[in-house]
Amino acid sequence: MAKTEPLPTAEIGDFAVPRHVAIIMDGNGRWAAARGLPRGEGHRRGVEALRRTVRAAGDLGIDFLTIFSFSAENWSRPPAEIRELMGLLRRFVRHDLADLHRRGVRVRVIGEREGLDPDIRRLLDEAEELTKDNNRLVLVVAFNYGARQEIARAARRMAAAVAAGKLAVSAVTADSLASYLDVPDLPDPDLIIRTSGEQRLSNFLLWQAAYSELVFVPTYWPDFDRTALESAIAEYRRRERRFGGLAARTGS
Ligand code: IPE
Ligand code: IPE
Ligand code: MG
Repeated sequence: MAKTEPLPTAEIGDFAVPRHVAIIMDGNGRWAAARGLPRGEGHRRGVEALRRTVRAAGDLGIDFLTIFSFSAENWSRPPAEIRELMGLLRRFVRHDLADLHRRGVRVRVIGEREGLDPDIRRLLDEAEELTKDNNRLVLVVAFNYGARQEIARAARRMAAAVAAGKLAVSAVTADSLASYLDVPDLPDPDLIIRTSGEQRLSNFLLWQAAYSELVFVPTYWPDFDRTALESAIAEYRRRERRFGGLAARTGS
């Protein structure tokens, strides 16, 4: 893995750092297979890549980092792999929470918590509670997460508010629906990175990704590091975001 210094601040410039970066951390299994190792080893090395990335995101001045760590569809994997992934989450929270807290990271969790093992729910609650006043970097952990399920949850909450007479039918709008998502005050991701060469969203942040810039990199997740994050950001900076308007230089 290449060791490089972070880009100098002047090079990065506040304007150029995406405020919210979301990552689909993919390719752990293929990383392991390429080395003749069990898939679990890929997942373990993936946790190390996550540590490096959270640190780099904080150093680069990113405000929100969302990571896709377990999808609602990942339950279809073999039970032994699911046990390994659950074990890694437990260990990550137990081992890293104090350090994240010390470094000013606020942890938030999106995804369905019903049906998770009670001890995992407790760990996720504890991580959110302990770090709730931190503001250096918000780390959003998408766990047991599916975007369609999240949108359905939001619709259900809205329907309940309408049924209770607290929300008018005419107040159901794109803006108001966004405020019923799992973490309502989360800005949309500016940049979504997917590792491992796959070019799809796999039910990740479908609502929030409406105008995100997508960067697909061939690197398997366990090899991801600060340099890889910086080059994805460099690619983002070459993009022109128009949001349906006209290019900045032609006037809008
Ligand atoms: C990402 O790596 C981790 C999770 C989805 C939990 P994969 O396990 O999907 O690795 P590949 O895609 O099989 O290589
Ligand atoms: C997406 O990766 C989910 C996570 C990274 C947690 P998958 O490996 O599950 O996605 P597909 O199955 O290749 O679309
Ligand atoms: Mg995968």
